[in-house]
Amino acid sequence: MNFSTDNDILDLARPELRTLVPYTPGAYEPTCIRMNANESPYRALGDTTSRGLNIYPPPRPWELRDQLAEQYSVPAEQILVTRGSSEAIDVLIRGFCSARKEEIIICPPTFDMYRLYAGIQDVDATEIPLIRNADPRLDFALDTKTLINALNKRTKLVFICSPNNPTGRSTAASEIEAVCKAANGRALVILDEAYLEFSDKKSLQSLQERYEHVVCLRTLSKFVSLAGVRCGALIAIPKLIEFLGSVLPPYTFPTPSIELALKALSTDSLKISMERNTLLRTERARLAAELKSIPAVTKIWPSDANFLLIEVQNRKEFSEAARRSGILVRTFGEQKSLEQCVRITIGRPEDNDFLLEALSMLGHNKISVRERKSLDDQ
Ligand SMILES: Cc1ncc(COP(=O)(O)O)c(C=O)c1O
Repeated sequence: MNFSTDNDILDLARPELRTLVPYTPGAYEPTCIRMNANESPYRALGDTTSRGLNIYPPPRPWELRDQLAEQYSVPAEQILVTRGSSEAIDVLIRGFCSARKEEIIICPPTFDMYRLYAGIQDVDATEIPLIRNADPRLDFALDTKTLINALNKRTKLVFICSPNNPTGRSTAASEIEAVCKAANGRALVILDEAYLEFSDKKSLQSLQERYEHVVCLRTLSKFVSLAGVRCGALIAIPKLIEFLGSVLPPYTFPTPSIELALKALSTDSLKISMERNTLLRTERARLAAELKSIPAVTKIWPSDANFLLIEVQNRKEFSEAARRSGILVRTFGEQKSLEQCVRITIGRPEDNDFLLEALSMLGHNKISVRERKSLDDQ
């Protein structure tokens, strides 16, 4: 197949969107009385925001964008703030894939939202499964060769999640660069780095200096403890940001989220996130070591993320033992390759202790401390 590599990157986008006239938002000047946007002049009871919830948020959260740019060490015009990185996935698929015509490539087992958003847009998700290996250190590797061979004229986006959810494995920079090279001028490569802060690896954002079709996704949901705020960052060349910005409607990012995210990105708050990150990584190693001694656990994969993927003798028994102690873990009944697998998010030390205690009951008829307490309380 013959692909040109000197095309405009936006030639890959949906052509009808390239000519879409953007919405013109009303002006905002903090010192002026607002009679231009049909808002209430009165603040609602309980409104503690500094902007005021009676008025619309800014069309785009510019101040937050600047702060995220600093956090991820890129110029502000390379950032699109999204409602979680989930929305970034959605806006990429909507911006680049025409329904029933084009496709994305995903590498399962991986984050299931890529498939979901493609399905919503009626776009095929071609699967290039990760390569299995009996050695957990080598297991779930990217099938780079097959992936590159699968690129075709219908492919618009390639999603690579590193560290990957749910395997916890990071893909080597050289493998990712090989995909970027092959996809150059043909498809965007989306590097989902939602869990990067939990790994020792560096962000592969610098690939954007050589490859303008590389997009990085980051999130405040994990490392910064703000899953409830819904803040993600899509990082790409300014031309792509501008185009994707025209696909994303204005005023979608809520004022409380902006103000809370700004607080979480302050120096003091980030210092706390960093300390917690160190603790979570220590706990990840401890939990992995302790789980090894539980007979019901048959395999533990190394993890660069804030969770561990393990294989157990019986996933139902395992998750029920955790549930009896009031702990929820994630199973993957629907995914064949993860049939007896369980994903455990690393908790606080006391939560991890509690889980270990709950699991020590597996196969025994003993009663856990929490069950004992709940019986005593009745
Ligand atoms: C790999 C990966 N990417 C993206 C997300 C979405 O995160 P959010 O929308 O909260 O930013 C998740 C959430 O768990 C994830 O695991």
